[in-house]
Amino acid sequence: MQDLWTQVDRYFCDRLAPAGPGDELDAALATNKKAGLPAIDVSRLQGKFLEFLVRSSGARRVLEIGTLGGYSTLWLVRGLPEDGKIVTLEFDPHHAETARENLRNAGVLERVELIVGRAIDSLPALEDAAEPFDLIFIDADKKSYPEYLEWALKLSRPSTVIVADNVVRDGEVVDADSNDPDIQGVRRFTELLATEPRLSATVLQTVGVKGYDGFALAVVLR
Ligand code: SAH
Ligand code: DHB
Ligand code: MG
Repeated sequence: MQDLWTQVDRYFCDRLAPAGPGDELDAALATNKKAGLPAIDVSRLQGKFLEFLVRSSGARRVLEIGTLGGYSTLWLVRGLPEDGKIVTLEFDPHHAETARENLRNAGVLERVELIVGRAIDSLPALEDAAEPFDLIFIDADKKSYPEYLEWALKLSRPSTVIVADNVVRDGEVVDADSNDPDIQGVRRFTELLATEPRLSATVLQTVGVKGYDGFALAVVLR
């Protein structure tokens, strides 16, 4: 099926998210490759989906957990209004440095606050910010997704949108006995989504150039 998923992804991508000349998104992927970063960014069509979520929710303040080279950050920025801002958290200094280069090259560095360190150490300081976040994208270490969801709730307001990447992982998520801490993290995260009365959540399974995976989508009720 992978061949067909790739063909269909390309068909829609070519029409709905084509790369223009001097495309800063493709440029970022090239920079990431040169810097030796793993190619685990969202796909182009998924990036457009992130842009869509920011735009359609009217988000002005976005939090991203897991920057890598800033490819998803660039898509999130695209959905923001002029005065919108993103805070993005990255553990690996080399990933963060590469992201800074990509954001600078795209001319959006001043709209992004990139905080280097373990997300779990950076999140508490964000609670002191004057305003909650309107949209939160969780995409760092999957084993910590439950903790990131707790923080997302603390840093949100009613109607905040919470999106989490990679919750399907080739279907591995259904293996209750998995000894992969990432799978167990996603399963505990899902239990929290299910039982947390302040959230209404669903999951969108995805196929495409990045294989078979999915996004969890939640909205804060109160
Ligand atoms: N959002 C990116 C991909 C992120 S990949 C995109 O789609 O373009 C996951 C990133 O999370 C990696 O860069 C990894 O270094 C980072 N990460 C892993 N553990 C982390 C932690 N504890 N705190 C912050 N970032 C972490
Ligand atoms: C991995 C992480 C991601 O965020 C992703 O989209 C794909 C893979 C990983 O850690 O393997
Ligand atoms: Mg991901």
